Amino acid sequence: MICIAPSILSADFSMLGQAAADMERFGADILHIDVMDGHFVPNLTIGPVVVKSLRRWASLPFDVHLMISRPLDYVEVFAKAGADVISFHPEAESDVRETINKIKECGAKPALAIKPATPAKEIFPYLDDIYMVLVMTVEPGFGGQSFMSDMVGKISEVKAEIDRRGLGVNIEVDGGISPDTAPLVAKAGANWLVAGSAIFNAPSPKEMIEKMRRAAESVS
Ligand code: DX5
Ligand code: ZN
Repeated sequence: MICIAPSILSADFSMLGQAAADMERFGADILHIDVMDGHFVPNLTIGPVVVKSLRRWASLPFDVHLMISRPLDYVEVFAKAGADVISFHPEAESDVRETINKIKECGAKPALAIKPATPAKEIFPYLDDIYMVLVMTVEPGFGGQSFMSDMVGKISEVKAEIDRRGLGVNIEVDGGISPDTAPLVAKAGANWLVAGSAIFNAPSPKEMIEKMRRAAESVS
């Protein structure tokens, strides 16, 4: 099943609660929340206080994407704030296995996110223990960048390994996803589609969510 995950990074930050409520009303499946520390990536966004406040505005599952250098130190606080899925990068400083275990201990679902330059096989040792793989289709840090089409092969590689092991791990893609790129990634095996600028800049975000879903479902 295709899940559409609007990325709140492209919302008006003075009205984040309203944006979260709108996305739920418009038929989004999940809310993608980008956490950046100005160190792992060259941008600063939001922390657990904001996630906690957003919980009052929407009952959608929260998919919290940690683009921070020490994810292990912040797992608990984000889980307590209301994160349902917590993604972190193996390129960061925390021990990967320990961080996965901590996420589970805190009652959330662990996901591993990989930057464009990181080969798929980096996450294979953890595949049996995670809920989702997030294949970045842009360099993490900013919304509104162009989709990197050479990431399609990486999605297929991850999908092939998941199938080979008979696992039900989800594949999420993040960066430059639109109705044009959605079929490419869905065909390769992605089933969670994050989209920021495509949805929030659309004249009708609701129609854009529907369009994106149709585009992905037409090939998967
Ligand atoms: C980028 C973030 C993305 C971003 C995607 O580092 O992880 O979630 O919001 O934005 P678009 O869809 O505009 O590329
Ligand atoms: Zn993201």
